[in-house]
Amino acid sequence: MVGARRGKGGDDERIRALGLDPRRIPRHIACVMDGNGRWAQQRGLKRTEGHAAGEEALLDAVNGALELGVRWLSVYAFSTENWSRPTDEVRFLMDFNRRILLGHRDELHAKGVRIQFLGRRDWRVPRRLLRVIDETVELTAGNRGMTFSVCFNYGGRAEIIDAVAAMMRDGVSAEKVSEKTLRRYFYAPDMPDPDLVIRTSGEFRISNFLLWELAYSELIFTPIYWPDFRREHLVEAVREYQVRDRRFGGLA
Ligand code: FPP
Repeated sequence: MVGARRGKGGDDERIRALGLDPRRIPRHIACVMDGNGRWAQQRGLKRTEGHAAGEEALLDAVNGALELGVRWLSVYAFSTENWSRPTDEVRFLMDFNRRILLGHRDELHAKGVRIQFLGRRDWRVPRRLLRVIDETVELTAGNRGMTFSVCFNYGGRAEIIDAVAAMMRDGVSAEKVSEKTLRRYFYAPDMPDPDLVIRTSGEFRISNFLLWELAYSELIFTPIYWPDFRREHLVEAVREYQVRDRRFGGLA
Protein backbone atom coordinates (compact mmCIF):
# COMPACT_ATOMS: atom_id res chain seq x y z
CA MET A 1 0.00 0.00 0.00
CA VAL A 2 1.57 3.25 -1.07
CA GLY A 3 0.96 6.67 0.36
CA ALA A 4 -1.98 5.57 2.48
CA ARG A 5 -0.59 7.02 5.71
CA ARG A 6 1.47 10.07 4.97
CA GLY A 7 3.07 12.12 7.72
CA LYS A 8 1.58 15.41 8.80
CA GLY A 9 4.42 17.29 7.09
CA GLY A 10 3.00 16.45 3.68
CA ASP A 11 0.88 19.35 2.49
CA ASP A 12 -1.15 18.28 -0.55
CA GLU A 13 -1.11 21.63 -2.36
CA ARG A 14 2.62 22.03 -1.96
CA ILE A 15 3.15 18.45 -3.12
CA ARG A 16 0.97 19.00 -6.22
CA ALA A 17 2.91 22.17 -7.00
CA LEU A 18 6.02 19.97 -7.21
CA GLY A 19 4.33 17.91 -9.91
CA LEU A 20 3.68 15.00 -7.54
CA ASP A 21 0.56 13.06 -6.71
CA PRO A 22 0.06 13.36 -2.95
CA ARG A 23 -1.72 9.97 -2.89
CA ARG A 24 1.32 8.17 -4.26
CA ILE A 25 4.12 9.38 -2.04
CA PRO A 26 6.31 6.37 -1.21
CA ARG A 27 5.77 5.24 2.35
CA HIS A 28 9.42 4.21 2.73
CA ILE A 29 12.44 5.65 0.89
CA ALA A 30 15.92 4.18 1.37
CA CYS A 31 19.16 5.85 0.25
CA VAL A 32 22.62 4.54 -0.53
CA MET A 33 24.65 7.67 0.06
CA ASP A 34 27.50 6.91 -2.31
CA GLY A 35 30.22 8.99 -3.94
CA ASN A 36 31.57 11.03 -1.03
CA GLY A 37 35.14 9.91 -1.70
CA ARG A 38 35.00 10.62 -5.42
CA TRP A 39 33.37 14.01 -4.82
CA ALA A 40 36.35 14.92 -2.62
CA GLN A 41 38.97 13.49 -4.97
CA GLN A 42 37.53 15.50 -7.88
CA ARG A 43 38.22 18.62 -5.82
CA GLY A 44 41.67 17.59 -4.66
CA LEU A 45 40.36 17.09 -1.11
CA LYS A 46 40.76 14.23 1.34
CA ARG A 47 38.09 11.50 1.19
CA THR A 48 36.98 12.39 4.69
CA GLU A 49 36.12 15.90 3.48
CA GLY A 50 33.69 14.27 1.07
CA HIS A 51 31.98 12.53 3.98
CA ALA A 52 31.85 15.83 5.84
CA ALA A 53 30.17 17.45 2.82
CA GLY A 54 27.63 14.62 2.85
CA GLU A 55 26.20 15.91 6.13
CA GLU A 56 24.38 18.80 4.45
CA ALA A 57 22.99 16.44 1.80
CA LEU A 58 21.73 14.13 4.50
CA LEU A 59 19.93 16.88 6.40
CA ASP A 60 18.41 18.27 3.22
CA ALA A 61 17.17 14.80 2.24
CA VAL A 62 15.63 14.28 5.69
CA ASN A 63 13.88 17.67 5.54
CA GLY A 64 12.75 17.04 1.97
CA ALA A 65 11.27 13.68 3.00
CA LEU A 66 9.48 15.36 5.92
CA GLU A 67 8.01 17.96 3.58
CA LEU A 68 6.67 15.23 1.32
CA GLY A 69 5.16 13.39 4.28
CA VAL A 70 7.33 10.29 3.81
CA ARG A 71 6.74 8.03 6.85
CA TRP A 72 9.99 6.05 6.73
CA LEU A 73 13.44 7.13 5.54
CA SER A 74 16.44 4.82 5.77
CA VAL A 75 20.09 5.52 5.01
CA TYR A 76 23.14 3.29 4.64
CA ALA A 77 25.65 5.00 6.94
CA PHE A 78 28.23 2.24 7.43
CA SER A 79 28.24 -1.30 6.09
CA THR A 80 29.63 -4.50 7.59
CA GLU A 81 32.14 -4.37 4.71
CA ASN A 82 33.27 -0.78 5.39
CA TRP A 83 35.61 -2.00 8.17
CA SER A 84 38.04 -2.94 5.39
CA ARG A 85 38.68 0.77 4.63
CA PRO A 86 41.86 2.44 5.90
CA THR A 87 41.90 2.78 9.71
CA ASP A 88 41.91 6.57 9.56
CA GLU A 89 38.77 6.67 7.44
CA VAL A 90 36.98 4.15 9.66
CA ARG A 91 37.94 6.15 12.73
CA PHE A 92 36.71 9.33 11.03
CA LEU A 93 33.38 7.72 10.10
CA MET A 94 32.78 6.51 13.67
CA ASP A 95 33.29 9.99 15.07
CA PHE A 96 31.44 11.59 12.17
CA ASN A 97 28.32 9.55 12.89
CA ARG A 98 28.54 10.48 16.57
CA ARG A 99 28.90 14.18 15.74
CA ILE A 100 25.99 14.13 13.29
CA LEU A 101 23.75 12.59 15.94
CA LEU A 102 24.84 15.05 18.61
CA GLY A 103 24.48 17.98 16.23
CA HIS A 104 21.07 17.16 14.81
CA ARG A 105 19.12 14.91 17.13
CA ASP A 106 17.41 17.73 19.04
CA GLU A 107 16.25 19.35 15.81
CA LEU A 108 14.96 16.01 14.47
CA HIS A 109 13.33 15.24 17.80
CA ALA A 110 11.53 18.61 17.68
CA LYS A 111 10.24 17.64 14.22
CA GLY A 112 8.76 14.42 15.58
CA VAL A 113 11.33 12.10 13.97
CA ARG A 114 11.91 8.71 15.58
CA ILE A 115 15.52 7.63 15.04
CA GLN A 116 16.43 3.95 15.06
CA PHE A 117 19.55 1.96 14.24
CA LEU A 118 19.76 -1.21 12.21
CA GLY A 119 22.92 -3.27 12.37
CA ARG A 120 25.31 -5.23 14.53
CA ARG A 121 26.51 -3.90 17.83
CA ASP A 122 29.95 -5.42 17.83
CA TRP A 123 33.15 -4.74 19.74
CA ARG A 124 34.54 -2.60 16.92
CA VAL A 125 31.94 0.14 17.37
CA PRO A 126 33.40 2.66 19.86
CA ARG A 127 31.62 2.80 23.21
CA ARG A 128 31.13 6.52 23.05
CA LEU A 129 29.30 6.15 19.75
CA LEU A 130 27.14 3.36 21.16
CA ARG A 131 26.27 5.63 24.08
CA VAL A 132 25.13 8.44 21.76
CA ILE A 133 23.17 5.93 19.63
CA ASP A 134 21.36 4.61 22.71
CA GLU A 135 20.60 8.11 23.99
CA THR A 136 19.28 9.17 20.58
CA VAL A 137 17.04 6.13 20.24
CA GLU A 138 15.69 6.69 23.74
CA LEU A 139 15.17 10.43 23.21
CA THR A 140 13.13 9.95 20.04
CA ALA A 141 11.44 6.61 20.79
CA GLY A 142 8.04 8.17 21.48
CA ASN A 143 7.92 10.25 18.29
CA ARG A 144 5.17 9.44 15.83
CA GLY A 145 6.32 11.41 12.79
CA MET A 146 8.79 9.97 10.30
CA THR A 147 10.99 7.03 11.33
CA PHE A 148 14.58 7.64 10.31
CA SER A 149 16.51 4.37 10.20
CA VAL A 150 20.27 4.57 10.22
CA CYS A 151 21.80 1.38 8.89
CA PHE A 152 25.07 1.30 10.75
CA ASN A 153 27.48 -1.66 10.81
CA TYR A 154 24.69 -3.08 8.70
CA GLY A 155 24.75 -5.85 6.11
CA GLY A 156 21.73 -7.45 4.47
CA ARG A 157 23.30 -10.90 4.72
CA ALA A 158 24.27 -10.30 8.35
CA GLU A 159 20.67 -9.30 9.13
CA ILE A 160 19.31 -12.53 7.64
CA ILE A 161 21.94 -14.62 9.43
CA ASP A 162 21.26 -12.87 12.75
CA ALA A 163 17.53 -13.44 12.31
CA VAL A 164 17.98 -17.15 11.51
CA ALA A 165 20.32 -17.60 14.49
CA ALA A 166 17.87 -15.85 16.85
CA MET A 167 15.01 -17.93 15.50
CA MET A 168 16.96 -21.13 16.11
CA ARG A 169 17.89 -20.01 19.62
CA ASP A 170 14.16 -19.56 20.24
CA GLY A 171 13.61 -23.14 19.11
CA VAL A 172 11.25 -22.25 16.25
CA SER A 173 10.42 -25.51 14.48
CA ALA A 174 10.94 -25.93 10.72
CA GLU A 175 7.17 -26.09 10.15
CA LYS A 176 6.78 -22.67 11.73
CA VAL A 177 9.37 -21.01 9.49
CA SER A 178 7.73 -18.55 7.13
CA GLU A 179 8.47 -15.09 5.74
CA LYS A 180 6.35 -13.64 8.52
CA THR A 181 8.19 -15.56 11.25
CA LEU A 182 11.62 -14.64 9.92
CA ARG A 183 10.69 -10.98 9.66
CA ARG A 184 9.87 -10.94 13.34
CA TYR A 185 13.58 -11.50 13.98
CA PHE A 186 14.85 -8.71 11.73
CA TYR A 187 16.46 -5.61 13.23
CA ALA A 188 13.26 -3.57 12.77
CA PRO A 189 10.30 -5.95 12.47
CA ASP A 190 7.76 -3.13 12.18
CA MET A 191 9.55 -1.43 9.27
CA PRO A 192 7.70 -1.71 5.95
CA ASP A 193 9.78 -2.69 2.91
CA PRO A 194 11.20 0.29 1.02
CA ASP A 195 9.02 1.41 -1.88
CA LEU A 196 11.85 3.38 -3.43
CA VAL A 197 15.62 3.03 -3.21
CA ILE A 198 17.88 5.81 -4.42
CA ARG A 199 21.57 5.21 -5.00
CA THR A 200 23.81 8.13 -5.87
CA SER A 201 27.18 8.22 -7.69
CA GLY A 202 26.32 6.28 -10.84
CA GLU A 203 26.96 2.82 -9.39
CA PHE A 204 24.37 0.18 -10.25
CA ARG A 205 24.57 -2.07 -7.22
CA ILE A 206 22.70 -2.92 -4.04
CA SER A 207 25.91 -3.54 -2.03
CA ASN A 208 24.34 -5.73 0.66
CA PHE A 209 21.74 -3.10 1.60
CA LEU A 210 18.38 -4.36 2.98
CA LEU A 211 18.61 -7.46 0.76
CA TRP A 212 15.43 -9.13 1.95
CA GLU A 213 13.43 -5.91 2.20
CA LEU A 214 14.26 -4.71 -1.33
CA ALA A 215 12.58 -7.65 -3.07
CA TYR A 216 9.98 -5.41 -4.77
CA SER A 217 11.41 -1.93 -4.31
CA GLU A 218 11.68 0.48 -7.21
CA LEU A 219 15.34 1.33 -7.80
CA ILE A 220 16.59 4.69 -8.98
CA PHE A 221 20.23 5.33 -9.77
CA THR A 222 21.47 8.86 -10.18
CA PRO A 223 24.95 9.92 -11.37
CA ILE A 224 25.32 12.75 -8.86
CA TYR A 225 27.60 12.24 -5.90
CA TRP A 226 26.00 12.18 -2.46
CA PRO A 227 27.41 15.55 -1.25
CA ASP A 228 25.56 17.24 -4.15
CA PHE A 229 22.25 15.51 -3.38
CA ARG A 230 19.46 17.88 -2.34
CA ARG A 231 15.72 17.68 -1.75
CA GLU A 232 15.10 18.57 -5.45
CA HIS A 233 16.77 15.28 -6.38
CA LEU A 234 14.56 13.48 -3.91
CA VAL A 235 11.49 15.08 -5.50
CA GLU A 236 12.77 14.11 -8.95
CA ALA A 237 13.20 10.50 -7.83
CA VAL A 238 9.68 10.43 -6.38
CA ARG A 239 8.36 11.85 -9.68
CA GLU A 240 10.00 8.98 -11.55
CA TYR A 241 8.73 6.50 -8.95
CA GLN A 242 5.17 7.73 -9.48
CA VAL A 243 5.15 6.73 -13.15
CA ARG A 244 6.46 3.24 -12.46
CA ASP A 245 4.02 0.35 -12.71
CA ARG A 246 4.36 -1.75 -9.55
CA ARG A 247 2.98 -5.22 -10.07
CA PHE A 248 4.62 -7.27 -7.28
CA GLY A 249 4.76 -10.28 -9.57
CA GLY A 250 1.11 -9.96 -10.53
CA LEU A 251 -0.51 -8.33 -13.54
CA ALA A 252 -1.34 -4.68 -14.02
C1 FPP B 1 29.85 6.30 0.76
O1 FPP B 1 30.75 7.09 0.00
C2 FPP B 1 29.49 6.97 2.01
C3 FPP B 1 29.77 6.51 3.28
C4 FPP B 1 30.52 5.26 3.52
C5 FPP B 1 29.35 7.22 4.50
C6 FPP B 1 28.15 8.10 4.39
C7 FPP B 1 27.76 8.55 5.76
C8 FPP B 1 27.16 9.71 6.05
C9 FPP B 1 26.82 10.74 5.01
C10 FPP B 1 26.82 10.00 7.49
C11 FPP B 1 25.60 9.29 7.98
C12 FPP B 1 25.41 9.51 9.43
C13 FPP B 1 24.24 9.40 10.13
C14 FPP B 1 24.27 9.53 11.60
C15 FPP B 1 22.97 9.15 9.47
P1 FPP B 1 32.12 6.41 -0.47
O2 FPP B 1 33.16 6.67 0.56
O3 FPP B 1 31.90 4.97 -0.77
O4 FPP B 1 32.43 7.22 -1.78
P2 FPP B 1 33.25 6.63 -3.06
O5 FPP B 1 32.41 5.50 -3.60
O6 FPP B 1 33.31 7.81 -3.97
O7 FPP B 1 34.57 6.18 -2.55
